[in-house]
Formats: sequence, structure tokens, C-alpha cells
Amino acid sequence: MKTLKNITNTAYSLEKIFPEADDFLPLLGTDYVELYVGNAKQAAHYYKTAFGFQSLAYAGLETGLTDRTSYVLAQDKIRLVLTTPMPNTHQEIFEHITKHGDGVKVIALWVDDATKAWNETTKRGAKSFLKPTTESDKNGIVIKSGIQTYGDTVHLFIERKNYHGIFLPKYQKWESNYNPPDVGLRYIDHMVGNVGWEEMNVWAKFYRDTMGFANLITFDDKDISTQFTALMSKVMTNGNGRVKFPINEPAEGLKKSQIEEYLDFYLGPGCQHIAVATNNIIETVKALTQRGVEFLYVPGTYYDTVLDRVGEIDEDLKQLKSLGILVDRDDEGYLLQIFTKPVSDRPTLFFEIIQRKGAQSFGKGNFKALFESIEAEQERRGTL
Ligand code: FE2
Repeated sequence: MKTLKNITNTAYSLEKIFPEADDFLPLLGTDYVELYVGNAKQAAHYYKTAFGFQSLAYAGLETGLTDRTSYVLAQDKIRLVLTTPMPNTHQEIFEHITKHGDGVKVIALWVDDATKAWNETTKRGAKSFLKPTTESDKNGIVIKSGIQTYGDTVHLFIERKNYHGIFLPKYQKWESNYNPPDVGLRYIDHMVGNVGWEEMNVWAKFYRDTMGFANLITFDDKDISTQFTALMSKVMTNGNGRVKFPINEPAEGLKKSQIEEYLDFYLGPGCQHIAVATNNIIETVKALTQRGVEFLYVPGTYYDTVLDRVGEIDEDLKQLKSLGILVDRDDEGYLLQIFTKPVSDRPTLFFEIIQRKGAQSFGKGNFKALFESIEAEQERRGTL
């Protein structure tokens, strides 16, 4: 496996880890993730209370933004934007919420030159979502541009080198007297897209052709299957390894896979999960659990054999078992991971909490245990 060493430190770097990736944009990292939601004010409260996000910025009627309300939350390098449309405008946001429920609309990528990013990607076949557009206020200027990706999801390119405000123009600092502590989430490790039957290669090619990404790993349906369900996945990465997008598609199994369930409830392709990194998964998961975040159940028997598979680890196995944290190892080290239940009523978007201790892979050894756990949830929902 290719090495991704040193890319998960805190300093952003343009050092190219994957020579086969063509970093013509280049991407500096994830700038923010924007969800369209039915009630941004209440969703913001949930992400503060349950996930430890901090109030960062606000835009709405009070800041001169009349067509929508957005709350921006931050935790270390992660920025989450929650947006709800106001009545008289933005049919597109209403339609998104009506069709998909709450979900990820924008995966915004930080670039040095948003005009160039738009030119380079559209010239290679990406469909435009937003032509290069300049926004400014007394704190400077931001240039944004955007392209469409799977389903109704889009990428915005954000050029902010001449901007010194709290987030973007028209946003003001969000002062709140409710400030629960963070839970140690640090940055986005990867974001996964679920696409339809036989579309995985289409979208893997899209990231290769239009954005210069390389294929880091491919998992076929034999890697990712249980007795009942299967899926396939290709992990695409940019050149410096800071932006990683696994793309999943369903595969034939005896029963309906979690990807098909997602597609049925999201009514099309979309972002399945946001994986966020922590330096101490035990403390993070303890805090999240106390705050009401629900995680997938892992059978206790998983822990009977896990150390035979992954060898010695620093953590206390009893603690991992009591919290339901999974462990996997590759050539470079090991990783700890856990998955939340879906964060809204539809079984669609969920979060992964991940701590990498050397390993730069994606927990292949956990797929079976994990998917059996998801199947148990599907069984309860009557969607298996
Ligand atoms: Fe993941």
C-alpha cells in the first residue's frame, strides 16, 4: 500500500505524496462542509450539544443575508455550516431539503486560486455549479467557484488568501452564552459518497479526470461483504493526501445493502459519512456518548479475537469494548474507529470518529463486524 505518512499532522502542506495524482488545482484542504437542513437554529444547537462544536459565525436577516440563514460551527480545523432557506427565495434549497432531508450539499475545498480551479476542472469536463464570483466586505475579498459532483452534491472552491473576517463576507461572529466544551474532534479525515449501481467507476474517473485525484485503494465486493450484503468502494485522494473521497456503490447480495438503503432514503446519491479525526478516541467517544450521540453496536465477541488480528495496542481493550470502538492494523500501524447511527430521521448521513496511530488505511478488517452491525439496524428498520 502506498504511504500516507506525515499527512495527518496539523500543518497544511503541498508536499506531494501521490506522484500519480496530478495536482493541477492544487487543493490545500477541506474548507468547510455545508448541510442544508430544515431548521438551522435547532441543528446548530444539536451539533454544539452532542458533538462539541463551537459557535463561530452567523449570517441571516441581521447581517444582510435575506434569502437564507446559516450557522457556522467549528471544532479545531473542522467547519460545519448549517443552512435553511427563507420563504421567498432559494427554491433549490427547499427542493434539496424536501427531496433529501437534512444532508450535505457543499464540500468546500480550500484553494489558492478559485478562478483557476474552476477553469481547470470545467475544461476537463466538470459541470459548473458556480462561475468564479467575488464577494467582499470590510475584511477583504473571497473568490468562490464551484462544480457539481454526485447527486445534488457540489464542490465549492474557496480562495480566502485576501480575507481576514471570521468566515466569509456577510457573516458576523456568532456570540453565544451557551458554549459546551469540545470533544477533541480535529479535522476531516475523509468524506464518503454513496453512488448508484455501476457508478463507482464513473465517479472515480470524474475525480481523476477533472481534479487530478489518484486511486488510493479499491475494495471489491469480496472485501466488503457479509453473509447477506455487499458493496464496493474506491478511495480517491488528491496529491497531498489531505482530501480523500471514498466512493461506494452497492453490490449484489442476498439482501439489501446499506448503500441501497441510503439511496432509497436520500432519493439518490449523496454524502454517506463524514469521518473526523481525534487524538484520543476513548475520551472523545466517552464525551460523545454522555452527550447523547448514539453509536453502532458491536457484538462483544468482536473483542475475543481482535488482538489476535491486530497485535499489541496501547489502549485498554476493556475500555474499547465498553465503548464499542473497533481496531484495525495495516503495514504502517493501527487505527481505532467507531460509527454513529444516522444523525437524522432518515437512515442517511452519519459520522465516523477515527484515531490513526500510524495506519493510513480504512479499516478493512472491521468491515464484516461493522456491516453485520448495520444489518442489525436495517433489520430493526425493516429495510434489509
Ligand atoms: Fe470512513
